[in-house]
Amino acid sequence: MTDDPSAPVLELIRGVWRFSALHVLARLGVAEALRGGPLTATQIAGRCDARPELLARVLRAAAGFGLLRSVAPGTYELTEAGEVLLPDHPRSLHAGVLTTADPALMYSLLTLPETVATGRRPFVARYGPLYRHLATDKELGELFDAYMDLRSRTFARALAETYDFSQARSVVDVGGGKGHILATVLRTHPHLSGTVFELAHLAPAARACLAERGVADRADVVTGDFFASVPVKADVYLLSNVLHNWDDAEAARIIGNVLTAMPPRGRILFLDMILPDDDSPHLGKDLDMRMLGVFGSGGERTRAEYTRLLERAGLSVAGITELAASTSLIEAMRAE
Ligand SMILES: C[S@@+](CC[C@H](N)C(=O)[O-])C[C@H]1O[C@@H](n2cnc3c(N)ncnc32)[C@H](O)[C@@H]1O
Repeated sequence: MTDDPSAPVLELIRGVWRFSALHVLARLGVAEALRGGPLTATQIAGRCDARPELLARVLRAAAGFGLLRSVAPGTYELTEAGEVLLPDHPRSLHAGVLTTADPALMYSLLTLPETVATGRRPFVARYGPLYRHLATDKELGELFDAYMDLRSRTFARALAETYDFSQARSVVDVGGGKGHILATVLRTHPHLSGTVFELAHLAPAARACLAERGVADRADVVTGDFFASVPVKADVYLLSNVLHNWDDAEAARIIGNVLTAMPPRGRILFLDMILPDDDSPHLGKDLDMRMLGVFGSGGERTRAEYTRLLERAGLSVAGITELAASTSLIEAMRAE
């Protein structure tokens, strides 16, 4: 601990500088270059198609914050923390770094003062609504979906292992992305069949992911817009990281469309971060800055805000359980 009152703000400013070095590592493939063991800055630059004398400064910075380690002056290896920059690492954040550094998404953060002061969203004015933009910017769309896949792995496993699916026969993952969470649930529960309900442009990636994870014989993909309808009947409806993109009126419309399709005894499982009521730090409070820039009034919610939203939408909350990775499961059913 330091007594310097400027330390917290300085730390945040340094975070931006460090993030730029991190972006270089991810964009130029430094972790992949170091996969086989230590290399000199010149060797890394050769593999990454970079200027050695300039890359050396970034490597020095990254070693200063623990992603690389010098094994001899100017020769580096990856640390355990640096290994998550490998795209195929089980906890990879490679796509997470590149998504965060994307110019359009950065713009939503840089224009946050205007959003907060006026309610306008310069991001939407320039790039259109996020999910339309992701459908047109193929590279960003793929990175975003890969990031969603990797960030969901721990809580998807926790959901599959802790929720009692024994009474259910079918699950639909509404806004299920590539089907990465559904695949985890189906692999753990061989008696279940499932459907990914998604925007049309994601159907090929979802079909490929379900096949790659060995559940294609029990899973299908239905495309559509959950603001228009959710035309799939199932015992369990999963909405993971969906409500946090939308304001209360929009979220209520999605839930209303789920209720139209859901059998009387069906269940809806919401996976989202639940913000603490106190001042404690929480990943969701920070992520909410992204939501603010991109979605405006839609964003992360507290337990009381979720409960109020769900009850107003005609649901009763059966339970709330913390899963993993700051994500909770809210189980709800039709109110009597
Ligand atoms: C934040 S991502 C969450 C993905 C996944 N459920 C997870 O937790 O990793 C939200 C998902 O909602 C989908 N989505 C957005 N608008 C939609 C709409 N109008 N109809 C159906 N899906 C939509 C997006 O394509 C995206 O995959």
